[in-house]
Amino acid sequence: DQLKHALAELAMAHRDQLGGLMPLLHAVQKQYGYIPEICAATVAPVFRLSTAEVDGVISFYHQFKSRPQGKHRVQICRAEACQANGCRSLEQFSKDHLQLDYGESSDDGLISLDSVYCLGLCSHGPAVRVDDELYVQVDNEKMTRIIRELTS
Ligand code: FES
Repeated sequence: DQLKHALAELAMAHRDQLGGLMPLLHAVQKQYGYIPEICAATVAPVFRLSTAEVDGVISFYHQFKSRPQGKHRVQICRAEACQANGCRSLEQFSKDHLQLDYGESSDDGLISLDSVYCLGLCSHGPAVRVDDELYVQVDNEKMTRIIRELTS
């Protein structure tokens, strides 16, 4: 089908590049916003790899998404200063509240949850970015409000 054909063409373009699989996967994600399920089986033969090997690479790197990204992207800073300010419990609360792990998107396609390493707001953590907006000193209550605004 069309998607398969397009993926195979992209793979061919990276075939002769040393370590071409990674740039290819980045190109696929850039084009589609995620790595479609049929990608591994389609591109593996081009790189003389097994589907399982390509799948292994895709799942090893968190930047490769296996589903389309949500409409809104919630990113929680988990770098050192934010950890000192309690981001660990905020992370757990947010995951429970959204019922998502990092790298996942809600079934309705509305929200994706990701971690991020430093948003440059270190003395005001825990810091969170939602799409292009930054939030500081985010506690559970503030996160609840942020999520409510996204879902209402
Ligand atoms: Fe979180 Fe810098 S450590 S904003």
